[in-house]
Amino acid sequence: MLSKRLSSIAEMVDTKVLYDVGCDHALLDIYLSNEKNIKCIAIDKSIDCVNKAIKNVKKNSSNIKVLLNDGLNNIDILENSTVVISGMGTKNIIKIIENKKIDYLICQSNKNIYELRKNVCNLGYHIIDEKIVLEDKYYIIIKFEKGYKKYNEKEYYLGPILLKNKNNTYIDYLYKLKQNIEKNINKYEESKKKKINTLLNQIKEEIEYN
Ligand SMILES: C[S@@+](CC[C@H](N)C(=O)[O-])C[C@H]1O[C@@H](n2cnc3c(N)ncnc32)[C@H](O)[C@@H]1O
Repeated sequence: MLSKRLSSIAEMVDTKVLYDVGCDHALLDIYLSNEKNIKCIAIDKSIDCVNKAIKNVKKNSSNIKVLLNDGLNNIDILENSTVVISGMGTKNIIKIIENKKIDYLICQSNKNIYELRKNVCNLGYHIIDEKIVLEDKYYIIIKFEKGYKKYNEKEYYLGPILLKNKNNTYIDYLYKLKQNIEKNINKYEESKKKKINTLLNQIKEEIEYN
């Protein structure tokens, strides 16, 4: 059975072809191939992970192409397909997608969600869906589509779609974020404090007007 995080990613896939970069166990691909008949290409740069993926694919009788590869290097991405990159850092995600033509991109970064939104959008994408899930911690999953759109700083920090469709998990996340910022406010450099205080006030407003 898929984790809540991987299930939420799976729900966002609505193309016939998927590239899962950093597939590790390939559990997402096995689910999407077996249950939704999606053609999956599972990619990992670690030979151990590729072997693990192949073993899982065989065990589940799935029809999945497993590739040992660094990111999307030398891979032609089909039109109207989705690339998933989850469980990696933002810098790694950006490196993988730079100079690539991707129609739909689903990302779940372990940290720096602000940088993820901003840098992916600067590469010519806009946000079409966002989800937040709580397992051992909060995970934010963002779906992008090709095409520029302008966002403000608040949207890059807090998520344009999450802000529009606030659910209980998101409100709890905002509380935790607020507490965390308040606890650490004195650790920020003077030059960054103004920006952080603005964000803090925006978070408070969102919580209050909920
Ligand atoms: C923490 S696992 C995440 C697995 C899975 N995507 C998930 O969300 O559960 C990160 C995986 O990304 C792989 N990885 C990291 N950088 C990569 C790259 N440039 N190309 C392909 N795989 C990469 C690692 O080998 C590892 O298997």
